[in-house]
Amino acid sequence: MSVTPRLRRPRTAELRELDATLAGVRGIVASGATHVPRIFRLRNPEEQLRAQEHPPSATVPVIDLGGDHAAVVDAVGRAASEWGFFQVTGHGVPEEAMAAAVAAVRAFHEADGGEGSDKARLYSREPGKAVKYHCNFDLYQSPVANWRDTLYLRMAPDPPASDELPESCRDALFEYAKQVKNLGDRLFELLSEVLGLKPSYLTDIECNQGQIILSHYYPPCPQPELAIGTSRHSDSGFLTILLQDKVGGLQILHEDQWVDITPTPGAFIINIADLLQLISNDKFSSVEHRVVAKNAEPRVSIACFFSTHFHPASTRTYGPIKELLSEENPPLYRETLVRDYIADYYSVGLDGREKTALSGFRL
Ligand code: OGA
Ligand code: NI
Repeated sequence: MSVTPRLRRPRTAELRELDATLAGVRGIVASGATHVPRIFRLRNPEEQLRAQEHPPSATVPVIDLGGDHAAVVDAVGRAASEWGFFQVTGHGVPEEAMAAAVAAVRAFHEADGGEGSDKARLYSREPGKAVKYHCNFDLYQSPVANWRDTLYLRMAPDPPASDELPESCRDALFEYAKQVKNLGDRLFELLSEVLGLKPSYLTDIECNQGQIILSHYYPPCPQPELAIGTSRHSDSGFLTILLQDKVGGLQILHEDQWVDITPTPGAFIINIADLLQLISNDKFSSVEHRVVAKNAEPRVSIACFFSTHFHPASTRTYGPIKELLSEENPPLYRETLVRDYIADYYSVGLDGREKTALSGFRL
């Protein structure tokens, strides 16, 4: 009797095979998988996900933006420097617009893939495309694939024609994008005030000029301890506004402990991203976060990023804001073109580095 040796296929062949389905992780789950394929397996799952000996007692601040203005500025300032993350209520975005966006994203991701489908039509990682759908933007760079699919929408610059988005989510996502843009502008005003600058400062230097919306879908994972929904990372732009549904799983690294961001109905999660830490000269913190996989209901989250790097030709440079510098507070970072920062950030997959990209720009 002869035994044919089973050769291990190269990892890239498995990645290509997944890509070729045009149906992402949701397709794997829909086909009835009971195991996590090798490309998704964490290299040291116990170390990454082990339960913490002392569950953290502190939680991310929740700030009611409708409160007294001076108190709001104070709370935002403390949260942005001590936590890098906070939740906001009283933000003025109608709950219906939030619920409609989550439902639309869920409907898009739960529709069948396959020939002729919206998913097949939109499946792409091409940088220039304003609307695309894919499983892991960094599938071929990152050491471990994430248990997550994403619908990508670039709203600014150059928003897509409305018929580029599938009909099922078009109206809800455009309305959502408009609402969170307004909220973003308001947050940039508050953050300018926190820095002691005039309210229009951060929008005058165009921190709000680019807007992309990533609509994530985290299917149930049959072996959640072996995989991760989103690897640890900090965000690359200036500011992120995130909406998560009630499933949970988002954690931030706070004082060396992973702290859950508990879903709060009606609230948005706000976080400082790398370039805002850089221009604030470390007054604000861009904090690492991740999403753990669960064998529960599918999870939907919608992340809105404000940056300028979606303008490929942008020649604006950013460095620590001059008004904040003094002899006691010297610049901690060098000036950089946003596109150079982003090129460095994206040169590896999400968890592909020892230190965050920002540390490479320190003086
Ligand atoms: C991101 C992110 C978290 C989430 O898109 O950068 O961190 O809850 N998302 O999906
Ligand atoms: Ni993030």
